[in-house]
Amino acid sequence: MKTPLVGIVMGSTNDWDVMQHAARQLRDFGVPFEARALSAHRTPDLLIEWMDGLIAGGAKCFIAGAGGAAHLAGVVASKTTLPVLAVPIPSKHRGGLDSLLSMVQMPKGIPVATFAIGDGGAANAGLFAVAMLALEDKKLARALQAFRKKQADAVKSAKLPNL
Ligand code: RP5
Repeated sequence: MKTPLVGIVMGSTNDWDVMQHAARQLRDFGVPFEARALSAHRTPDLLIEWMDGLIAGGAKCFIAGAGGAAHLAGVVASKTTLPVLAVPIPSKHRGGLDSLLSMVQMPKGIPVATFAIGDGGAANAGLFAVAMLALEDKKLARALQAFRKKQADAVKSAKLPNL
């Protein structure tokens, strides 16, 4: 197992349905990561302990997904100067708008980079982590360019259905 470059954390195992989309992007680009369900309010000490281990091992960023009063990404950011990417999880009562606002409204001084609510946001957080790592990794940069080209080619060759 390679040392994780990205730590993916989510407040509950119930968040995995969404957060797996971040993990899949990292896996597809061959970026080593570690994913855990750890909560800022249920297991704060364990969260910090896990973070410290990853940071000591050379992790470059964290992706944090949480729902509701989603303070997880902010707490992660409070304990590291590494970039923290936040994914708002769709919540039961507010559709994830509560999660989004909790993350995107971080007070000045401790930023988290907040992505879209749900699967697309999780996938984009994974891709953004790849883009950050690609700054120092030419092979990864080429893979990201190829990924973008594949998407562009799919659009160019797309045909709309006949009426
Ligand atoms: C947050 O509360 C989690 O991130 C999750 O999205 C939400 C609900 O948690 P569960 O009750 O589903 O475990 O901590």
